[in-house]
Amino acid sequence: MLWHDGRTERQVLTLKLILLAAPGAGKGTQAENLSKHFGIPTISTGAILRKNIAEGTELGSIAKKYIDDGKFVPDEVMIDIVRKRLHEDDCKGGFILDGFPRNLAQADVLDKSDIEIDKVLTIEVDDETIIERLSGRLECEECGTTYHTVYRKPKKEGVCDNCGGKLIVRADDKPEIIKSRLATYHSQTEPLKEFYRAKGMLVTVIGQNGIEKTTEKVLEALEN
Ligand code: AP5
Repeated sequence: MLWHDGRTERQVLTLKLILLAAPGAGKGTQAENLSKHFGIPTISTGAILRKNIAEGTELGSIAKKYIDDGKFVPDEVMIDIVRKRLHEDDCKGGFILDGFPRNLAQADVLDKSDIEIDKVLTIEVDDETIIERLSGRLECEECGTTYHTVYRKPKKEGVCDNCGGKLIVRADDKPEIIKSRLATYHSQTEPLKEFYRAKGMLVTVIGQNGIEKTTEKVLEALEN
């Protein structure tokens, strides 16, 4: 099978990608577009945790305490979740890892594991734009699809285009929590860019433009 960009199915299916960017930079939004384009699943650690919180599981009750403070969930918890998920069958042909690793300890464990990674994509967006994006974000409580009150409006107000679910504001999108998440990102996650740059794996895209323009730039960057 040939994909619309001319590559064979085999070439497309082997992409194992990490998305490494600030909260609100558009990881989830771009992951959705890339997942459709490449036909590979997105593993979002944030979405896994939110699902557990909504279902009231033991993991959810542990995670909620950290997420509500804009802090990271403990490494051992996250590593266990990701290791199990990436060994599931649907990840054999490739995956998009959104939200992991988030600090050097997690990156080091992944690096020493049997999980191979092809590329690490970072999307650069300034803090001012991020605050504007997160302040207007809406998320479907059923399927997790993300919208924005200005940049990505649903067809019908308050209703998900994909599944008809209710659109809600995420609990961690309050102004004081956004600030704390950004500070945690700059101190703990941003150093990973250097970690992956040194390994020749880092691909950088400026994400200040609109959603579709950013997807075009991401696809162009991943081709090279
Ligand atoms: P997680 O869910 O991963 O949150 P995050 O990293 O803070 O990222 P976000 O989901 O907020 O933003 P995004 O970059 O996906 O942006 P989006 O596409 O939605 O994690 C949540 C929490 O879980 C963490 O804080 C932590 O506590 C815990 N956790 C998760 N993983 C962990 C780990 N490995 N270790 C420890 N703890 C962990 O876009 C944002 C908005 O902007 C949307 O409204 C969108 O429509 C809009 N938008 C996107 N792109 C554009 C564009 N180009 N132009 C205009 N608008 C745009």
